[in-house]
Amino acid sequence: MVTCKLLLSVLFLCYCTNTNAQEYYKNLNIIPYPSTLTPGEGYFVINAQTTLIAPSRFVNGAAQLNKLVKAGTGHTLIQGKSNPTNTVKFVYDGSIKNPEAYRLNITTKHIIITAGTPAGAFHAVETIRQLLPVSVETGQKNTQVSLPSVNIDDQPAYAWRGMHLDVSRHFFSISYLKKFIDVMALYKMNKFHLHLTDDQGWRVEIKKYPKLTEQGAWRTFNNQDSACMKRAADNPDFNMDQKHIIHKNGKTLYGGFYTQQQLKDLVAYAANRHIDIIPEIDMPGHMMAAINAYPFLTCDSQNKWGELFSTPICPCSETTFEFAKNVYTEIMDIFPSKYIHIGGDEVDRRDWGKSEACKELMKREGITSLPDLQNYFIDRMEQFFNSKGRKLIGWDEVLEGKISSTAMIMYWRSWVPDAPVKAAQHGNQVIMTPGTPLYFDNPADKNSISNVYHFNPVPQNLTAEQAKLIIGAQANIWTEYIPSEKRADYMYMPRMTALAELLWTNKQDYYKSYTQRLVQQYSRLEALNINYRQPDLEGVLDTRVFITSDTVKVNSPLSTSAIRYTTNGDLPGQNSPLLRNYVVNHPQTIKLAAFTPSGKRGDIYTVKYVQQTLAQPVTATGVATGLAANYYKGFFKGASGITQGAADSTFVTQTISVPASVKAPSFAIKYRGYIDVPKDGVYTFYLTCDDSGILNVANRETVNNDGMHSPMEKSGQVALKKGLQPFALDFVEGGGGYTLKLQYSINGNEREDVPESWFKHNQ
Ligand code: ACM
Repeated sequence: MVTCKLLLSVLFLCYCTNTNAQEYYKNLNIIPYPSTLTPGEGYFVINAQTTLIAPSRFVNGAAQLNKLVKAGTGHTLIQGKSNPTNTVKFVYDGSIKNPEAYRLNITTKHIIITAGTPAGAFHAVETIRQLLPVSVETGQKNTQVSLPSVNIDDQPAYAWRGMHLDVSRHFFSISYLKKFIDVMALYKMNKFHLHLTDDQGWRVEIKKYPKLTEQGAWRTFNNQDSACMKRAADNPDFNMDQKHIIHKNGKTLYGGFYTQQQLKDLVAYAANRHIDIIPEIDMPGHMMAAINAYPFLTCDSQNKWGELFSTPICPCSETTFEFAKNVYTEIMDIFPSKYIHIGGDEVDRRDWGKSEACKELMKREGITSLPDLQNYFIDRMEQFFNSKGRKLIGWDEVLEGKISSTAMIMYWRSWVPDAPVKAAQHGNQVIMTPGTPLYFDNPADKNSISNVYHFNPVPQNLTAEQAKLIIGAQANIWTEYIPSEKRADYMYMPRMTALAELLWTNKQDYYKSYTQRLVQQYSRLEALNINYRQPDLEGVLDTRVFITSDTVKVNSPLSTSAIRYTTNGDLPGQNSPLLRNYVVNHPQTIKLAAFTPSGKRGDIYTVKYVQQTLAQPVTATGVATGLAANYYKGFFKGASGITQGAADSTFVTQTISVPASVKAPSFAIKYRGYIDVPKDGVYTFYLTCDDSGILNVANRETVNNDGMHSPMEKSGQVALKKGLQPFALDFVEGGGGYTLKLQYSINGNEREDVPESWFKHNQ
């Protein structure tokens, strides 16, 4: 018996001190997961007798906690009273080093929050919030709420945990920005980068230049608006926000802007949640809205689109500097943030080279290239920022010219992988926002959350000292095709939770527990009226093959979801039939969608059912291992458009992946040969590519993943008899994504990489 007791106490000790989130604690669904967490015994109950003691420095944290308690229970905590068996206490500890760290001790008798800063105390309250029932969000009052005993010692892995929102391409109301800030705070994100100006709209009042908003904040509908309106036919989230449409002088105009006072209030709102707002006034490119209002800003008073980008403002005229400094002086007045973003991306510098003023200036200053001329502008603006005690941030193009090592670099161009390395080697601090996977305007698919979670912000090839210059990461939301608040919610949630955990917790092996915890977060998101992207349905393929018949088996990870379907091409609606043992016995196309209890429809899946017989294998003699590959230089619009002519080079490959030796931004590869399948069956192939890929097996189109896009998985099936089956894969890289992956499964089993030994080709 002694042994048994000993064993029990050892087990208990393991349970109590296990701080690994892989051990999934049912009641501790915290995202981001704390750095150290030890579950305790029992619950703390907040009721009408619970007291609160908080020093004044923690007023924000205490107010936030009281707000949640009030919503959840209908009463507030009794302030300033001690109660040894029923109290919440904030404690200051100046020895805590990390400015956002906190400790949280919950027992059956008390909650003690210990922090060295108001930010730390506030983060502790956001942790408490996630331990409280969802009723604290909805205001469904219970007389008491309880939360599990736990001991937490927590601090972030990265200092910069950012979200960006482009309010120029489409405009977002102040109330939406507040909602966005609230969601950031819930997940302990701390930097909100507001992209306030661009070609398509100027969104901030500048008193010295009123035409910036009088004219620059309004536009007639553009191509991007038209594309959104078209998509709205299938998805109402693409409807343009009516709030931002006006009728003036017989014209329908879209737009809007924030007054300085509105933005000052927003800054205070964010500061109360310990979030900095970082303003970006993008210069010298992306300035069309401003130039239309003030044509003197360009070198030749012209304002046009070049091949890719609009005309930039002129760095060779003092009036430009006067304008830029005046604008930024007002911006700095609104935004107290230490960081100010100057943009500096995508500048068509060619017209500068033709300008007499620029030729003269370059001669005078000894500037020998147009990128250096751009940085003459950036450098002078940095000196101006620094003179006001601020730090300049620029997109990574500013590395193309001479840049000071005190500027901060925001890396975005995935196809220039050495940019952040060069920046850190040069001594610049770097914020990582690579398009893949951190542009949240890219459509999400079933791999997006995992891709974000497993992203490593620190590039390889940095010394430990250089790695410290990578201060964090940020997701960007460009809104050309995001015309509504609902669509914006859908694009960033829930993938922001993966970014939050990456940047705060940074323990990649917690992924499985993260996915379990995420499932528990949806009810809170629902309560907060966030139009989150619902989890991907399990069992859906783009094309399914059946031989005689197939029962449609599709599940939602959310047990509360209802899956509805149509077979007549209509979009599934609340009144479409529920999917229950539906049997397919003739070729047809089924549309499916999950509905939340509140009736919110998730993504619509279109599944094509194709009837096939098992394809007979071919006989081939003298085959060798690997696939024959033809490489074509140049830009192709998609895998269906690869040239028929002679290849630029050929090689044999054992694997389906982009060869490491290929450095060109755009090219195509055709893989040809056989796949030697080990048994009869319906094979599923999963093809992920950026950009485009089409797979044929047994001369049957199996997966069509054509089109120019960020990494996207498509799947399809083919019925095969055991043996050698013809294999053809066409792949196109359009500009720097370099993603190509092929996996398979058979008869509904787990998916795996296609074994190299299956590939054969004629010698
Ligand atoms: C950018 O996406 N142009 C920074």
